[in-house]
Amino acid sequence: MSMQNFDELINREGTSSYKYDLRKSIFGTDDLYPMWVADTEFRAPGFVLERLQQRINHGILGYTITTDAYYKSIIHWLEKKHNWGVKKSWIKYSPGVVPSLFASVLAFTNPGEKVIVQTPVYHPFYYAIEQTGRQLVKNPLVLKNGRYEMDFDDLLSKIDSKVKLIFLCSPHNPTGNVWKKNELERFSEICLANNIIIISDEIHADIVYKPNLHIPLASLSDEISANTITLMAPSKTFNIAGLNSSYIVSSNKNLLDKINYFFEGMHIGPNLFAPEATIAAYENGLEWLEQLTCYFMSNINTATSFFEANMGKLNINKPEGTFLLWLDFRKYNLPQKQINEILIKKAKTGLSDGTIFGAEGEGFQRMNIGCPASLLKEALNSIAGAFRSI
Ligand SMILES: Cc1ncc(COP(=O)(O)O)c(C=O)c1O
Repeated sequence: MSMQNFDELINREGTSSYKYDLRKSIFGTDDLYPMWVADTEFRAPGFVLERLQQRINHGILGYTITTDAYYKSIIHWLEKKHNWGVKKSWIKYSPGVVPSLFASVLAFTNPGEKVIVQTPVYHPFYYAIEQTGRQLVKNPLVLKNGRYEMDFDDLLSKIDSKVKLIFLCSPHNPTGNVWKKNELERFSEICLANNIIIISDEIHADIVYKPNLHIPLASLSDEISANTITLMAPSKTFNIAGLNSSYIVSSNKNLLDKINYFFEGMHIGPNLFAPEATIAAYENGLEWLEQLTCYFMSNINTATSFFEANMGKLNINKPEGTFLLWLDFRKYNLPQKQINEILIKKAKTGLSDGTIFGAEGEGFQRMNIGCPASLLKEALNSIAGAFRSI
């Protein structure tokens, strides 16, 4: 396979891009390096674009189903990439991981019941619980020697008969953690012992840096599998988030049907591009993903060594997975608002304010490094320049 040119700069302004075309309303200015929303600046792989083009050339854009080829491509990917054997009957299409989070809360809890999240965490986890009138219970992660760890004692202390569900983010956004086998085992053991259903958001599963290894939680044992719903998608990996292509996996038919009830009931089936892109990506994408992962790693190395050399007060731990850096500005000893202002107004860089991921994100910013190295370097220089005299 020829190498994709990840250095290519593609203008996305005016393409209804969330990341670009919402800058003015989010940051108050369009003049800003957008390093916030978690899509990347990379063209989707040629084999995906070609398949979509063929579909367009056919000319008829009617109602769409999920065919055997769709399920086969997912089964193939999970086997090859994650060493996880799943059956066709375990898989259902979903329009997105976030809709599935909402559907799972509605399916498995009643208003007033509790759902646990491990904070800081991807902000829609909060919305799915709070906007549906359920109680959010925090089991904060603990930062120990530069790595976030799960706090099992705290988790046990938070469990009561009202806790029905827990959201796992694996790999973890925003910290970049790739959970280890022993962590996942202890986590699942506690959930099983307390009849808590696990919703495992594994959307970042494909982007993991060696020697770290993503282990699908449900692959640990039949018992864990029967208590887990896994949410996955090709969207982060192949930069096709605009296609609404995601899927739910569970060996427990009862759990799967209860979530699927919402999507099927509302006729939220796949738009015709979603299965096409998924099939093309999962049938052909392994080598392309290797190239992408190398590019991400190189960008991560560039950013970490740049910050070490130029911003001594900034703490940064290399992520084990994801294309997100979790930057610790706490040594600057500035209020969050002021850090945001310096980044936006002086550095002209739009990062994700750490506090959107919960109060535990105070003093932190999340930076998306999924862009050409030249753009990354411009943004890094701009950030260092803005903080030079501080
Ligand atoms: C952990 C996590 N889950 C879900 C999503 C979004 O999923 P979707 O676009 O399929 O709703 C993101 C996007 O940033 C994410 O980081």
